[in-house]
Amino acid sequence: MDEKIKGLEARRKKVVDGGGAKRVAAQHEKGKMTARERIEALLDPSSFTELDTFVEHRCTDLGMVEIKAPGEGVVTGYGTVNGRLVYVFAQDFTVIGGSLGEAHAKKICKAMDMAVKVGAPVIGINDSGGARIQEGVDALCGYGDIFYRNVASSGVVPQISVIMGPCAGGAVYSPALTDFVFMVEKTANMFITGPQVIKAVTGEDVSGEDLGGALVHAATSGVAHFTYPDEASTIAGIKKLLSFLPQNNVEDPPLAATKDAPTRRDEELKNVIPDSANKPYDVREVIKRVFDAGDFLEVQPLYAMNIVTCFARLGGRSVGIVANQPKIMAGVLDINASDKASRFIRFCDAFNIPLVTLTDTAGYLPGVGQEHGGVIRHGAKLLYAYSEATVPKITVIMRKAYGGAYIAMCSRHLGADQVFAWPSAEIAVMGPDGAANIIFKKEIEESTDPLATRKEKIAEYKENFANPYKAAIRGYVDDVIDPADTRTRLVGALAMLLGKRVQGPVRKHGNIPV
Ligand code: HXC
Repeated sequence: MDEKIKGLEARRKKVVDGGGAKRVAAQHEKGKMTARERIEALLDPSSFTELDTFVEHRCTDLGMVEIKAPGEGVVTGYGTVNGRLVYVFAQDFTVIGGSLGEAHAKKICKAMDMAVKVGAPVIGINDSGGARIQEGVDALCGYGDIFYRNVASSGVVPQISVIMGPCAGGAVYSPALTDFVFMVEKTANMFITGPQVIKAVTGEDVSGEDLGGALVHAATSGVAHFTYPDEASTIAGIKKLLSFLPQNNVEDPPLAATKDAPTRRDEELKNVIPDSANKPYDVREVIKRVFDAGDFLEVQPLYAMNIVTCFARLGGRSVGIVANQPKIMAGVLDINASDKASRFIRFCDAFNIPLVTLTDTAGYLPGVGQEHGGVIRHGAKLLYAYSEATVPKITVIMRKAYGGAYIAMCSRHLGADQVFAWPSAEIAVMGPDGAANIIFKKEIEESTDPLATRKEKIAEYKENFANPYKAAIRGYVDDVIDPADTRTRLVGALAMLLGKRVQGPVRKHGNIPV
């Protein structure tokens, strides 16, 4: 028996050594950890249980007699992060460049199937040359099997993709189908076709970093949700994200301990918003002051910065916040902001995370570019996502809520359960300047002093229409509140809404305008 145990250990060591010392050193030289080091850094100490250690490929085309793809180029298994179960897979670049063949894909699929069975998040660490060329269609089949499971698991368990090296060709579509994509700056790349192919086809000259590096996907394409300067900080970011999430769609997010009193008032809040309706401010200042201990995790912080999406807590409970950002383009809603917010809302709704909306926007962005880019179709996503969401929905109208944007930012009409407005709220069909020009056109034109008359009419309009009371009189706004009480009122509303139940009509699924 002793001999057999020694044999087992020797076999296991062969797999654990991956592609060998030379390739491991090359990995380290690039500032990258190995697959096993990444898993160790992510999971609680000694919590990892590996699966399928001895799986091998059966591709004779590789021309291999002995095991030359130890572990099949991917480490899979389960463990805990802060005591909570997760499933994980990490591609091993030291083994045939982490390329994905039939057996490699089967290992990933088994981990995904198990995660759904037990209701645990899946974290996939990507570092791969893509489809294993020697395996031909079997490799493509492997990707297809993973995509199918990404979709089947969507809205059942949280799926997190972490890009820590190359991720090219069709391989990018698994991360794209998951809930969140993390990328490491400088070492991660994502593209469908690389620089050489682009050069050959379109003649464009571009580096891998400029084509599909972390910052490009964070700021321009919107593919990446989080970027960090190195692997250690990326792993810390994943842990922080997980702390806000439930294990699956039938559980609630974990309740966190907080020393921040639910009754804490903040007299300074009223000073955050400038008196002039056209002056910018940073809505994150409001978020910091209202939510537990000023702590929040921004999702896609560099993309469509005119809207802020983030996770935070109220009285220890996770919430998803959608807030117009008046600091950027006056917080307008445009194509990208609508896409960003809609996806975030749908994630929160799928995973029982209540939504808090902070409104201050002049409306949808006018312009030929927006219209031709399909702002009608993209903007509709926001209406769809909010209307469809059945989690508790609470809205605070802080300042401007004009026209379609009033409706779109989770108004009562899209199913908000509680709507509060600050006294500074302006809820109207359009802003005072534009409105006065239209409805008082005649008076202004006929006046002996048109400028003065216009000013007077704008003031009159503001008094009559651009305030929260018209909406409160109708009951569209439940209460007009002192900004200082925002936290208390939100905590109270959230506690009241915990038992919310909504039963929609039976249907296969709706048809969101994608
Ligand atoms: C087999 C591969 C491989 C692949 C890399 N290797 N990619 N083996 N199939 N797809 C092997 C290399 O031969 C090498 O083996 C080792 O992995 C490390 O690769 P290097 O090229 O030495 O590393 P590096 O210089 O860092 O470059 C990494 C790379 C490059 C940029 C990823 O290897 C590369 O361009 N690979 C091909 C990428 C690609 O086009 N993949 C197919 C995409 S299409 P040795 O033995 O020397 O260590 C696709 C379709 C999916 O994925 C469709 C799904 C729907």
